[in-house]
Amino acid sequence: VAATVVDEVAAATAQFGGSVTTTTPDEPLTADEALTHEVVLAVVGSAGQVGTASARLAPPPGTVPRTDAYLPAVQATLDGALVLGRGAPWNPGMFTTVRRGGRTVVAAADAAGLLHGLHDLVRRGESAFTGPDDVSVDLPVNGIRMLDHWDNVDVHPVMGQVERGYSGGSIFYADGRVREDLSRVAAYARLLGSVGINAVAINNVNVARTEARLLTDGLPDVARIAALFRPHGIRVHLSVSFAAPMTVGGLPTSDPLDPDVQAWWAARVADVYAVVPDFGGFVVKADSEGQPGPFAYGRDQADGANLLARALKPFGGTVFWRAFVYDHKQDWRDRSTDRARAAFDHFSPLDGRFDDNVVLQVKYGPMDFQTREPVSPVIAAMPRTRLALELQVTQEYTGQQKHAVWLGPQWSQILGFPLWGEGGRTVADVAAGLCGPTDAPRAGLVAVSNVGDDAFWTGHPLAQANLYTFARLAWSPEIDPVAVLDEWIGLTFPDADDDVRATLHGILDDSWRTYEDYTAPLGVGFMVRPGHHYGPDVDGYEYTPWGTYHFADRDGIGVDRTRATGTGFTGQYPAPWRDVYEDVATCPDELLLFFHHVPWSHGLRSGVCVAQHVYDTHWEGAARTERNAEAWAAVAGKVPADLHARVTERLAEQVRSAHEWRDQLRTYVHRHSGLPDATGRTLY
Ligand code: GCU
Repeated sequence: VAATVVDEVAAATAQFGGSVTTTTPDEPLTADEALTHEVVLAVVGSAGQVGTASARLAPPPGTVPRTDAYLPAVQATLDGALVLGRGAPWNPGMFTTVRRGGRTVVAAADAAGLLHGLHDLVRRGESAFTGPDDVSVDLPVNGIRMLDHWDNVDVHPVMGQVERGYSGGSIFYADGRVREDLSRVAAYARLLGSVGINAVAINNVNVARTEARLLTDGLPDVARIAALFRPHGIRVHLSVSFAAPMTVGGLPTSDPLDPDVQAWWAARVADVYAVVPDFGGFVVKADSEGQPGPFAYGRDQADGANLLARALKPFGGTVFWRAFVYDHKQDWRDRSTDRARAAFDHFSPLDGRFDDNVVLQVKYGPMDFQTREPVSPVIAAMPRTRLALELQVTQEYTGQQKHAVWLGPQWSQILGFPLWGEGGRTVADVAAGLCGPTDAPRAGLVAVSNVGDDAFWTGHPLAQANLYTFARLAWSPEIDPVAVLDEWIGLTFPDADDDVRATLHGILDDSWRTYEDYTAPLGVGFMVRPGHHYGPDVDGYEYTPWGTYHFADRDGIGVDRTRATGTGFTGQYPAPWRDVYEDVATCPDELLLFFHHVPWSHGLRSGVCVAQHVYDTHWEGAARTERNAEAWAAVAGKVPADLHARVTERLAEQVRSAHEWRDQLRTYVHRHSGLPDATGRTLY
């Protein structure tokens, strides 16, 4: 990583006719050098102990001290940072920027910190070199900042090459194997390293036959990919199949308590580390949507996770075990089963049973990446488990990168949700490992990537903002997402005038809300076309085995998840939320239909009833997409032509689709409720 930093700085300074001198901590710069260098990048030490490091850096007597001008300040701020980190022993990747006497110094305790410090200077641009004297510390709040790729080596007959991918083919695989030319991966690695991502999983959580062999025959290729991520401080992970001992290894069982199975995994892990010494570990989707798992042997999810954790432990690897376990073959007639309950029911009794190199990866909501869900109660229920929050950057349920939907506000709201009531610890605190009276081991944030081999990387060029925002929130969950969006706009459109900036903000700032307005209302979710999940189909999932129902009839709509009369799901939350959600009078309107079945005439806080809310929001949401398309048309010529054309095409599709949603939802509600739209707008 340190070599990458030097290369990056050399390339940047070469543009201005400058050059770079590198030194080790024991070889201070001479006076001349110190004066001619605007930026000093210094590794303060790698032992994880600032005190030790600062001693090592003290310049030998008689030489010009390149450190004494800033080291006390660095020391003070690093000490402060350790306090900030609430006792966490060390925060790899942390850096300090000091501006003193016309020089800008970036100091870090490890090479990854230098890399992040360098990219931070680039982000800040000119102001990093011209501002007044200043000291700042920047540290990643989350130890894990990960992107999962749902990429298949073989093209899947239904899902295609990238499951839920909307950006073309895979950057890793083509023609049934790992690409020979991985230059796109190299560029992607640099891109991710520049925003602080430090882990990727390179294959789909639904692991098919060919993909299961990445762990064996595919290892040389995995090593090639890892070599491209390594210089940017990113560790590579593989999704593995729990049945691999049988399907790949030819054993008669995959029982986690079977010694042969344990030996098989230990041997595979040793093989991986022989070629990828910094391999990150495994991602596992077990006993979920047809994937094999420990239930087949009467074992629980902790038995399954610990099997792999123990194989990885000697090498420092981690298991990311997904909590997305539910019955996907439910009978829709069975009103006693509630999919929302499943993850908590399966996992909360296992708190404390997972080894310390297991991270339980929990989707943000109890269902499945919907536009609006309450946060998953699992997040509050497992204080003795390392827990990572899973988000979906790829827009499966939020417009599939045909609709401009910037998810920063949604993620920020989830991260800031106070699990035990206002002022208490948040989802972000739990993910970072600050979840109990004593701090739990650190974990972080994971998201499904939205990148493919598309010329613009993300299909919809504006969907790049989601990738950028996820990474920045993984680093600093508390930052204002609109400031992050502004940063992204500045970096992506360096020549943008005020008009372009305002137009981009106008399209994106409220785009999550706009999308919610013209799609499934008030937290009820789904209502999408089964299978591919694009476009409206109100009853598409109503009589299916997937557990995704809205129960609309002539009298009302919504799912009764109360303890009093429903599925009892509200009881999975701690106070105060178990009571806030239980009572229709205190349940927030935006989650009303997630928790309650109410009459169409039920009055909302806005003053209108549920039916009129659907009529109004769908009309207004669709109208906003038209205004966005017009605003974008007006900045033609001010942004690159190919990008303008692509966004224009996507906005036109968003307008078409939003009108389809609008008309289906309004008509559905009218036909079921019999209620008119008070404004007299067309219903069909
Ligand atoms: C969703 C998605 C699937 C995916 C699954 C998962 O259900 O539709 O394609 O496999 O999530 O997260 O595992």
